[in-house]
Amino acid sequence: MQCANKYKTQSYWDERYTSEESYDWFCDLQALDSQIHDLLKPTDNILVLGCGNSTLSSSLYDKGYHNIHNIDFSPIVIDGMKRKHVSLVDMTWHVMDMLDLKFDNETFDVVLDKGSIDALQVDQGDVWDPRPEVKVQLEKALSEVSRVLKVGGQLLSITFSQPHFRGRLLYQPHTFCWNVRHSEFGTAFHYFMYSATKRRSAEEVIVRQQENYEFNNLYSSPAAVACLDYDDKDDKFLCNIGDVFGVEL
Ligand SMILES: C[S@@+](CC[C@H](N)C(=O)[O-])C[C@H]1O[C@@H](n2cnc3c(N)ncnc32)[C@H](O)[C@@H]1O
Repeated sequence: MQCANKYKTQSYWDERYTSEESYDWFCDLQALDSQIHDLLKPTDNILVLGCGNSTLSSSLYDKGYHNIHNIDFSPIVIDGMKRKHVSLVDMTWHVMDMLDLKFDNETFDVVLDKGSIDALQVDQGDVWDPRPEVKVQLEKALSEVSRVLKVGGQLLSITFSQPHFRGRLLYQPHTFCWNVRHSEFGTAFHYFMYSATKRRSAEEVIVRQQENYEFNNLYSSPAAVACLDYDDKDDKFLCNIGDVFGVEL
């Protein structure tokens, strides 16, 4: 197995969490605070994907965000985190695969991902054209995130992945209908935070897919794919694509 591919296996994480007490991938809340402070409300119902043994959830709790639900596919880490944070009432911990979330539709205001979607990409092969199996898994994970988010809710994704890669993954208006923004932060190492706001319910997206059948075909044309590379910093991005094809997104 190639070195990085191990990050995709549950056995690797189980073994690691048997001895590792705490580790924050990329950064902790202190480094992240300026990025997410204005995006979170204390009343938000928050899902943390692939929580690991990071301090992110407990640090958020200490800042007054109490409705936090953590999932990870490693029973070892979930058991350890549950015991460690038993005093943090309202916080819940679940052994769960992020490709198959056991939550009702439109449950969460915010889904937080720090390094977990990245774990799905470690064996993707060509970064510009990931292996089909990896594409299917990424689409499944993002569909699940979209399903459990309320309309107006947002996925906050923290990663090393640059906009021309993560942007391509998230800017899929015919599938997810998200408004996507990103920011870059960090000192020695630089990270990206993507905020993808769900604009429509799953039912509305399906109706629009049918109505915009022609658009969907056009969307995979070279011209549309070129639009995806547009490095946007404001909400105009999706509208611009709609303008190109004369449809409302
Ligand atoms: C790179 S670590 C990030 C941990 C933590 N979010 C942080 O910021 O430090 C990736 C985490 O995702 C979990 N993970 C990987 N694939 C998963 C899956 N399919 N479902 C749920 N958790 C998964 C791993 O067990 C690991 O805890």
